[in-house]
Amino acid sequence: MEYTLLGRTALKVSKMGLGCGGPSQIGQRYGRSVEESVAVVRHALDSGINFIDTAESYQTEAIVGQAIRGYDRESLVISTKKSTSRPITAKDVETSLERSLSRLGTSYVDIYHLHAPALRDYAFIVKEIVPTLQHLKAEGKIRFLGITERFNHEPQHKMLQRASQDDFWDVMMVGFNLLNQTARKYVFPKTMKKNIGVLIMYAVRRALSQPERPRQGIQELLKNKQIDPSDLDRDNPLGFLIHPDGGAVSLTDAAYRFCRYEPGTHVILSGTGNIEHLTENIESFTRPPLPESDIRRLKHVFRNADSITGQ
Ligand SMILES: NC(=O)c1ccc[n+]([C@@H]2O[C@H](COP(=O)([O-])OP(=O)(O)OC[C@H]3O[C@@H](n4cnc5c(N)ncnc54)[C@H](OP(=O)(O)O)[C@@H]3O)[C@@H](O)[C@H]2O)c1
Repeated sequence: MEYTLLGRTALKVSKMGLGCGGPSQIGQRYGRSVEESVAVVRHALDSGINFIDTAESYQTEAIVGQAIRGYDRESLVISTKKSTSRPITAKDVETSLERSLSRLGTSYVDIYHLHAPALRDYAFIVKEIVPTLQHLKAEGKIRFLGITERFNHEPQHKMLQRASQDDFWDVMMVGFNLLNQTARKYVFPKTMKKNIGVLIMYAVRRALSQPERPRQGIQELLKNKQIDPSDLDRDNPLGFLIHPDGGAVSLTDAAYRFCRYEPGTHVILSGTGNIEHLTENIESFTRPPLPESDIRRLKHVFRNADSITGQ
């Protein structure tokens, strides 16, 4: 596993991070037992992944807490989040953090995010919530402050564009994948300038892990006139990525390798409840970049695509 520094946090993190939310929630979404999900997390840790992302709303914090027991806490980077789907107060943040720490079985979280606030709530957050987060950081319960986006509602990153004007966010979680590459224009130049740590979500999601989904996404982009029909084979639109000459071995492999080498990204989150998928994905992170000609073609085909996220 390759490691990097997470921007200005200087935390040493694996390029592949285990996402404990998303469509799988380490298997909890589709009936895996707690023991099976604990085994997925431990398999990730034993394979060299040291970055784990969870959230109070995923209901996987306690599983992560159980899984990390017995591992050297200081070698792990634990990221969790305070929900913002309902109006929150500074007091809620303090209470939620205490509960998260208790479920995770730790005295501090490395990164505490506000989870996907809407752009319209951002001014309130800066005024009412950020001072409390800074206080909790000074107390040592949070090492670094993060913010994640509602990519599915804001595929052009409006809230993160606003947040990147401020100086208190050490880390941002950004939606980015081969179908929606808009973060390259709207987010990464700003995060690189401020040396903000960048975590990538939606690298695979549903669109790039389920056989019928890429075609559906491409059809939507064609309908929205955001791609040129002459650029792709409609029956197998992303098939050109899979070939023996250094190409991808599968669509998920292409999706992870595409994000993994994008300048300005630090950790690519990968979520699964399936140890075989986890093993395959770890393999993808050991492979070189996709061939330059394939990357050039992806950049060309999806250059105007900003209306889908890969949900
Ligand atoms: N706004 C936010 O804060 C936010 C939003 C979304 C996600 N996140 C974070 O980002 C992480 C990543 O989430 P994501 O949205 O990018 O989705 P994801 O969790 O990476 O989803 C990938 C999907 O693809 C499947 N999959 C994975 N590897 C596969 C393989 N090799 N072959 C076939 N299928 C495979 C998984 O199902 P199986 O279980 O069957 O493998 C899973 O359903 C989340 O876990 C969460 O931590 C944060």
